[in-house]
Amino acid sequence: MRLSSEEALKILNSFIGTTRDDIWITHSKCVGDSAGKIAKALNLDEDYAKALGYIHDIGKKYGWNNYEGVLPHAINGYKYIKELGYDEEYAGICIKHSFLNNDINCLANDRDYTDSSDENYEFIKKYIAKEYSIYDKIICLCDLMCKDHIMTIDKRLNDLLSRHGIYKNSQYHILETNKLKKYFDDMLGYNLYNLFPEIKNNL
Ligand SMILES: [Fe+2]
Repeated sequence: MRLSSEEALKILNSFIGTTRDDIWITHSKCVGDSAGKIAKALNLDEDYAKALGYIHDIGKKYGWNNYEGVLPHAINGYKYIKELGYDEEYAGICIKHSFLNNDINCLANDRDYTDSSDENYEFIKKYIAKEYSIYDKIICLCDLMCKDHIMTIDKRLNDLLSRHGIYKNSQYHILETNKLKKYFDDMLGYNLYNLFPEIKNNL
């Protein structure tokens, strides 16, 4: 079943006030709106990109603030969207967005990447090895440009690293993030930040 951006936003908004704070909801809106802008600029399906962005972190409805693990929020979101009966790609983005280059080790921080004993570790590892669509890549990039508002990848990475610390794969993650931004700059033929003039206010 297809998920419209309108329906995705309704699902997201239904969790306002149900977790310790709503920052993840504001963040998800930022990711969806930004993804829509990039998709539109590339003559892609704007509504589809927005829907993926709105629901990518939906697994955080299960108490993200109590356990900030990457694997749990990914798998919880995946299962939830499947339970609602939406197509695989909507569930899949809940997992794929955390791993920008198909590699389970490509994370900014080590919060639980080493937890190979996690029951979902092997499933997630295999799942992200699948090819990412252009829409999956857009969401990965927007996740790294949005906190609760749009910013450069440099500022967002700085935010992640200063909050959660630096570890052995942080440099790898930074380099892959830069590569992903360049991939879209090249595809657009101009600097992707031109799509977001408001970014200047958030430097
Ligand atoms: Fe996110």
